[in-house]
Amino acid sequence: MMTKMNETGATTGTKIMMPHKGDPEVLTVVAREQGTLKPGQATVRVEAAGVSFAEVQMLKGRYFGQPKFPFVPGYDLVGTVEEIGEGVDQGMIGQRVAALTQTGAWADRVTLDAKDLALVPDGLDPAEAVAAVTNGVTAWQMVYRAARVRPGQTVLVHGASGGVGTLLVQLARLAGAEVIGTASASKHALVRDLGAIPVDYKNESVPERVREIAPEGVDAVFDHVGGPGLVDSWRVLRRGGTLVTYGSASTLNETGHWLKPYLTIMGRVLLWSVLPNGKRATFYYVQRWPKLFQRDLSTVLSLLAEGKFKAHVARRMPLEKASEALGLLVSGKASGKVVLVPGLQTEG
Ligand SMILES: NC(=O)c1ccc[n+]([C@@H]2O[C@H](COP(=O)([O-])OP(=O)(O)OC[C@H]3O[C@@H](n4cnc5c(N)ncnc54)[C@H](OP(=O)(O)O)[C@@H]3O)[C@@H](O)[C@H]2O)c1
Repeated sequence: MMTKMNETGATTGTKIMMPHKGDPEVLTVVAREQGTLKPGQATVRVEAAGVSFAEVQMLKGRYFGQPKFPFVPGYDLVGTVEEIGEGVDQGMIGQRVAALTQTGAWADRVTLDAKDLALVPDGLDPAEAVAAVTNGVTAWQMVYRAARVRPGQTVLVHGASGGVGTLLVQLARLAGAEVIGTASASKHALVRDLGAIPVDYKNESVPERVREIAPEGVDAVFDHVGGPGLVDSWRVLRRGGTLVTYGSASTLNETGHWLKPYLTIMGRVLLWSVLPNGKRATFYYVQRWPKLFQRDLSTVLSLLAEGKFKAHVARRMPLEKASEALGLLVSGKASGKVVLVPGLQTEG
């Protein structure tokens, strides 16, 4: 159950607090105080904030570099600039912008450095746009920078029904590749609609199915699952292929130090990279370096605005329902991106 708590001082809005480790129910709705803007900052009225697997990991205290509890979660947002600090271009006021915040986006208003804001093209729905911020740049950089997917290639996307996976499938298709996508059987219709050949990772042998579809192996594998299955991802690569590993979803419920599974992945990547086998392995992590991130985010949002790919919003939920939204993600029932919409009255 979410509870409303009071804070001292003038209260002007709402934010969500992750107070300690636990289940999504521990999240609380608290009052937000409006601070004073420092030079170079801008206050954004949040229109959509993404719910991501990173928050699931943070809730277990298993996310790389997460702040100490309590903190306001929220990896990315889209909203409109309402107020600016000294030194910020007046023209920013009223602009719709996007930002990767890592934490802090689950609030009705967020103050950020103006240099970290990217303009959102006119006509884009904020919830669809936010689904393409972290996930869009992640998918874009993995397809075009890490694996350099080319026309005529065949690639394997794990978790093709998820927030990142739905975008990976579409961007790899856009790059001209044939795509094989793993997903639960109930989500195969979506995966097929996106243009991929679905494989049921729960009931089929993924390596066997991949070999049936691509007897010589695939040119790239995008793997967020980690664990022992990473070896299969490496083995189904053809000569010249690239394994892009970018997560360790299968070890979420392990009890050892959160870093251990990542060290195993890094060790494998390092070993595989030095072997004279004609294949490449790399670990991808989305970076906030303003220039590269913003350039790729602008590209991704422009492609979305041009209709070159679709952002799949699984559900829009009021900000105050953050614990239910995170619970929905944890349940595995969502296809695509769960989005929090401050001020939303009716869910959609
Ligand atoms: N490195 C980076 O910079 C970066 C950036 C963003 C995200 N990520 C990582 O990307 C992953 C996905 O994030 P997301 O927000 O897209 O999560 P999401 O929307 O919850 O999607 C996760 C997907 O994984 C699938 N899945 C779960 N276990 C699987 C398995 N054993 N084999 C194949 N698929 C499996 C689920 O498929 P079904 O529901 O069909 O079963 C689900 O669609 C997370 O691990 C996250 O940490 C990394």
